Amino acid sequence: TVDSDSESPHEHVVVRRGTRSGLPIIVAVHSTALGQAIGGCRLANYPHWRDGLTDALRLSAAMSDKCALAGLPNGGGKTVVALPPGRKPDRITRRAVLHDVGDVIAGLAGAYATGPDVGTGPDDMVTIAERTAHAFCRPVDAGGSGDSSGHTAVGVLAALRALCAERFGSADLSARSFAVLGLGRVGSHVLRMLAGTGATLVASDLDDSRRALADAAGAAWVGPRDCLTADVDVLVPAALGGLLTGHSVPRLRCAAIAGPANNQLDTPATADLLHQRRILWAPDIVVSAGGIIHATAVELHGETSDQAAVRVRGIADTLTGVLRTARATGSTPAAAARLRAGQRIRDGQRIRDGH
Ligand code: PHE
Repeated sequence: TVDSDSESPHEHVVVRRGTRSGLPIIVAVHSTALGQAIGGCRLANYPHWRDGLTDALRLSAAMSDKCALAGLPNGGGKTVVALPPGRKPDRITRRAVLHDVGDVIAGLAGAYATGPDVGTGPDDMVTIAERTAHAFCRPVDAGGSGDSSGHTAVGVLAALRALCAERFGSADLSARSFAVLGLGRVGSHVLRMLAGTGATLVASDLDDSRRALADAAGAAWVGPRDCLTADVDVLVPAALGGLLTGHSVPRLRCAAIAGPANNQLDTPATADLLHQRRILWAPDIVVSAGGIIHATAVELHGETSDQAAVRVRGIADTLTGVLRTARATGSTPAAAARLRAGQRIRDGQRIRDGH
């Protein structure tokens, strides 16, 4: 049988110059071993489109593990539209590029479905859906399950409680301090929810205009670098990935890390550095699954949003299981999570293959 964990090669990767937009459209289908591959559509600037391809390959492989750990009958995929440095699409280009994305997805004949991600939202899913049926999270009045970011944030809060219970002996967040790095769609929800618990907060974003969100939440506003190395109980990465590196980990002053950013570790070996420093890292593939759990429960399985919310909060149990396995076996949480994901993918594949 094929070893279908995140190390295995992708099933299918499309790199195409959009016929309308002229922009590089990359759709990476990592695995359909458990079912249709899912993963969001990222619209972001890259120095070169090849960097976008590298990102798409890593992000889609992580989605396979994310789906498996969330217990979903889905595999991993991702779309990246690699915008040249400094370029922001205007309204017309945006429509063109989203239609280009829709055409590429339509060509995959159901092997992959997209959703919102960094740089896209529910309205963009409506535009993509003009070309293909395979787009999650259209607004509710347009027939979709709506914005997934609030549900992702609910999952993050559940994960933070589980993490704090393991690391500090109590799931009560009010006694803890958090540094939220990134106040985009998900990060701003997380900050507001943490503020509601009475926790002590520090926050940051590259975009200074987001400072008002921090002020409203009663969070101290600091620069991104100071936020990363803040002297807090828990760091909450909620921006782009790759922030935990051989350079940054020695400078961290937090005791634990959990957040919705995808691909937080620059390389798998960084998990060992965190482990050596006794910083408890909650794997992003577990923590960030709330959006896909909610969207698939509502759109594929006909559940109500409340029923889906129960599943989203199940992230707490999944994380507790991963952290306890890691402790019991002396491995890193990253290794424990990936091992469990690989097992689920192989089991699921065996059942699908009928042996
Ligand atoms: N951005 C989401 C993620 O990384 C992608 C997504 C959300 C896909 C909702 C489908 C539905 O998990």
